[in-house]
Amino acid sequence: MAQAWSPKSWREKPIVQVPAYPDPAALAGVETRLKTLPPLVFAGEARNLTAALAEVSQGRAFLLQGGDCAESFAEFSANAIRDTFCVFLSMATVLTFAADVPVVKVGRIAGQFAKPRSDDNETRDGHTLPSYRGDIINGEDFSSEARVPDPQRMLSAYYQAAATANLVRAFATGGYADLSRARHWFLDHHHPDLARRYNEVVDKIADGVGFLRTFSLADTVKQQTGRVDFYFSHEALLLPYEEALTRQDSITKDWYATSGHMIWIGDRTRQPDGAHVEFCRGVKNPIGLKCGPSMSEDDLLKLIAVLNPKNEPGRLTLIARFGADKIAEKLPKLIRAVQKEGANVVWSSDPMHGNTMKLQSGYKTRPLDRVLEELKSFFAIHRAEGSYAGGVHLEMTGQDVTECLGGAQAIKEVDLHDRYQTACDPRLNASQSLELAFLLADALRAERIKDANRSAKSA
Ligand code: PEP
Ligand code: CO
Repeated sequence: MAQAWSPKSWREKPIVQVPAYPDPAALAGVETRLKTLPPLVFAGEARNLTAALAEVSQGRAFLLQGGDCAESFAEFSANAIRDTFCVFLSMATVLTFAADVPVVKVGRIAGQFAKPRSDDNETRDGHTLPSYRGDIINGEDFSSEARVPDPQRMLSAYYQAAATANLVRAFATGGYADLSRARHWFLDHHHPDLARRYNEVVDKIADGVGFLRTFSLADTVKQQTGRVDFYFSHEALLLPYEEALTRQDSITKDWYATSGHMIWIGDRTRQPDGAHVEFCRGVKNPIGLKCGPSMSEDDLLKLIAVLNPKNEPGRLTLIARFGADKIAEKLPKLIRAVQKEGANVVWSSDPMHGNTMKLQSGYKTRPLDRVLEELKSFFAIHRAEGSYAGGVHLEMTGQDVTECLGGAQAIKEVDLHDRYQTACDPRLNASQSLELAFLLADALRAERIKDANRSAKSA
């Protein structure tokens, strides 16, 4: 018998990655305040996302999830949100039309503030301070004042998430995301080589729409393409914040995390008996689970049983993040375990977190080639195992930053310092993200062609 769950039952479980708040009364005060504030998302929207992900789990759609490693208070601006949204839409357009598959769009946005850290402390020039854990917890400055966890930051994060969500919803439904505007999603700072390929896709769409118009289907097309469904996701790491925003849906009486539509469990906090898994098992949102190199088949099966006991399609997304050098050894046995169990899951690839390296210069970076290599292996392994490679999970931005190596701009180690702006891990810049979308589109198209050939042969 599963033990009773409540929004606070995680407090009885072992927990890791906890900030050391110096003033428990101040923390409790903020939690009480957060409990009175409106939800950021509506339960019905989370259910819609589960339904969309169920389509992905059946191989009928593809998940595109991405955004900042960590949203930051300093980088918060309408232009930054718009540019990320534009890159996301152009990537989704390339995937949808070049690969002929509907794309479920989920941003790491409007709540992606808290960061797990490998070390509790950071040392610079012989001086040691608590690690930076994301703007929702403490400050990035290397000073003892900034690094003290401050619960008031949860309220700032909440309001920033609300304002971000508001603008993204306006873009998604207010006309900006109308497919007839696809040409305008291409950013001025994109590498010019990408323009030709992107415009080819946009021209094909325009031809297709024109063709449908001749059959007087213009209104139907407009209805279907005038707006997009865009969802918000983040790592459910800071549980006092998550608990305070967990609400009971008045329609179904189920509990939902209303801090975002989808939440995920990080690779460092996925202990089956731990606090983070306990929290996530009780909310009805779609849940992501990061699967890193140390995950065994047993661990995975235990987690699937706890997180998706009814085996509902769309409820659980497994986000594989092994690294280009480890995926071939680690992924096939997990896929087989899932198949043997008959578990309904979405398999998505995070090709970022297993391919991070620290350079002598001190910069953390990721070579685009390694990212692409892990993605290619992810597709190849799924094909070999007869399983569906259903999505990708990226750290990306709409800005022209220099954080990851390579790509059309051929960013090199010496270039990194130019525009290295991330609050945490290195992100693909706008051009690297779009390049990756073209590659993914080719991979997905190849899958479709092989599948079509297979069914033609067996017919
Ligand atoms: C992340 O997605 O930012 C992250 C920390 O990932 P992981 O838990 O996979 O290391
Ligand atoms: Co990260």
